[in-house]
Amino acid sequence: MSNLRIAVQKSGRLNEDSMRILKDIGISIDNGKDQLKAAARDFPVEVFYLRNGDIPQYLKDGVVDAAIIGENVLIEKGSDIEFVERLGFSKCKVSIAVPKDSNANSLKDLAGKRIATSYPETVKKFLKEQNIDAQLHQINGSVEIAPNIGLADGICDIVSSGSTLFKNGLKEIEVLLKSEAVLAVSPKISEERKAILNKIQFRIQSVLKGRN
Ligand code: PRP
Ligand code: MG
Repeated sequence: MSNLRIAVQKSGRLNEDSMRILKDIGISIDNGKDQLKAAARDFPVEVFYLRNGDIPQYLKDGVVDAAIIGENVLIEKGSDIEFVERLGFSKCKVSIAVPKDSNANSLKDLAGKRIATSYPETVKKFLKEQNIDAQLHQINGSVEIAPNIGLADGICDIVSSGSTLFKNGLKEIEVLLKSEAVLAVSPKISEERKAILNKIQFRIQSVLKGRN
């Protein structure tokens, strides 16, 4: 019988809760995080530890069959990938923010201005929907510093506690989307592995019910 290959974030905010939910549904992993791949005991599952941003492509290609990933990453990089379950953790917003003293009150007010972000496709989509023209600067981290160093008039990034915005003297002016961790599925998953995934999904549903 072939194993279901499931991707989780290698390191970062989703990692711990992802491993916890796997453990809670009875999938225990033998090794530590140093390995990039690990087989589960007592269950036909292999866990792949990957970079968040790489996971949508692996799902598209069918290199992994399923993944625990932030919905926001799917929206940015894999809009054609479906998810079967919301997992209730890693809740966050993807928001537009500007310096506290800025007059801008919404995305519209950034027309003709510069927006720094790690989520260019998401911002493009919203700009297009609202028929706004703005200049995008893609940055891969520490996006909130961009207005302070004169690189941008506004930013679009993840907001969780809001502390990074606060520390950088920024205010949120528009929430583009709300996100949480989800169980995503490769469009190329085989019937046999889909059956294993269904079992996992069923167990996850029971665990989530118990948590509420
Ligand atoms: C993430 C995200 C925001 C921040 C939001 O950054 O990019 O900057 O967390 O969380 P908060 O609202 O609770 O402050 P992270 O710390 O992961 O670093 P990075 O942007 O450099 O990757
Ligand atoms: Mg950040």
